[in-house]
This record gives sequence, C-alpha cells and structure tokens, in this order.
Amino acid sequence: ALRRASNIHWQHTDVDKAMRALAKGQQPLCLWFTGLSGAGKSTIANLVERRLAAQGFHTYLLDGDNLRHGLNVDLGFTAEARVENVRRVAEVAALMVDAGLIVLVCVISPFRSEREFARSRFAEGEFVEIFVDTPLAECERRDPKGLYRKARAGEIRNFTGIDSPYEPPLQPELHLHAEGRRAEQLAEEVLAKVAALQTRA
Ligand code: PPS
Repeated sequence: ALRRASNIHWQHTDVDKAMRALAKGQQPLCLWFTGLSGAGKSTIANLVERRLAAQGFHTYLLDGDNLRHGLNVDLGFTAEARVENVRRVAEVAALMVDAGLIVLVCVISPFRSEREFARSRFAEGEFVEIFVDTPLAECERRDPKGLYRKARAGEIRNFTGIDSPYEPPLQPELHLHAEGRRAEQLAEEVLAKVAALQTRA
C-alpha cells in the first residue's frame, strides 16, 4: 500500500461538502459501474447521465478508457497497473463527490479489493456499486472494439475475462442482469436507485 510522506498535515477548509451539496440541492453520489469490457458500462452510464442532467442534476462521467488518454496514460493492464488505475479513479471520484457532484464511474475494476478500496473513500451511502452483469460470451459476441478477437488471437495479453481475472461483486448495491435487456431498461433501474438516494438533499 502507498504511504504518504512524513510531515504532511490535513488542512481544514471552512466550506465543506455539506455546504457545497446544499448549494447544489443534491445528494452527492458515486455511481460505480463495474463489469467486463463490452458489458455496457459506458452505454448505460451515458443514458443515466443524460437523464440526470436533463433533471437539473450536476453530474460528471469518469470513463476508464478516456482517463487512460490523460491522467492514467502511464498505466497498462498488468494487475499492478489496474490497481493503480482504480486507485486514481477512486480518488478523483471522491474529490468530485466532495465537490457535491453525482459522479458516474465506468471502469472494469476487476478486483474486489480495489473496489473495496474505492468504497472506503466515500461516506456511508454515497458509494453505489453497480454490477453490469453481462456474460463473457455475450461481451465476446458484441466485441464492439474487436479486442476479444485480438485477445483470442494472442495479440493482446492480460485481457479481462480471457487471460486476466474478473471478480464479480458479491453484494453490489445494484446488480444489473444485462443479458437480453435493453440499455434503456437498465438505465431506468439505476435512475430509480438514484432517486431513492436523493431524499437527503
Ligand atoms: S481496469 O481494469 O479497470 O483498469 O480497466 P479500465 O481502465 O476500465 O480500461 C478498460 C478499457 O481498456 C480497453 N482495454 C482493455 N481492457 C481489459 N483488458 C485489457 N488487456 C485491455 N486492453 C485495452 C478496453 O477497451 C476497456 O474498455 P471497456 O469500456 O471496459 O470495454
């Protein structure tokens, strides 16, 4: 585990999360979408974000693929790199929730321990783990980026579900049984959950 340097103190700020959330009139949340590549994480999260934005919520979508163009440009797909990838995404999401936003995170985040780390960065009730449960065979059939084909051909190593593990969540806040269901239906399930959690704002 990473340790911070010595002689580092926590600097208090007068404006806190509760004040920021009040100013926005929303309960800040982290909606953490986990699942295989091609499971539909980004598609569902995009639909959810569109609907939330239309309802006047202040949102931000953090997509693993996109963050790997910038913040995480130095990281590949070994187990160590994925651990660091998920750690950084969790910290950024936590900052955004601290800022009062509803953050949607789409990363495979294949390891339970890293998702538990992510959860630990949020207050009780603010972290919503959403398992986009699409069977590997279906992800492979869709293969939207042609990556499964490459992985099967040995052109990509450490591909999740092929030669790199995915540990399904045991008790996610939301388990989306995605096979044979439309993304719109699954987005509705997420929106219902968000609505139920907005009572405190
Ligand atoms: S992780 O495991 O959470 O660190 O991965 P993430 O940051 O979400 O990045 C996953 C996207 O990268 C593409 N890609 C791979 N995925 C899995 N394994 C390997 N080896 C790999 N190489 C590239 C892939 O397009 C993933 O995008 P999604 O949106 O999940 O399909």
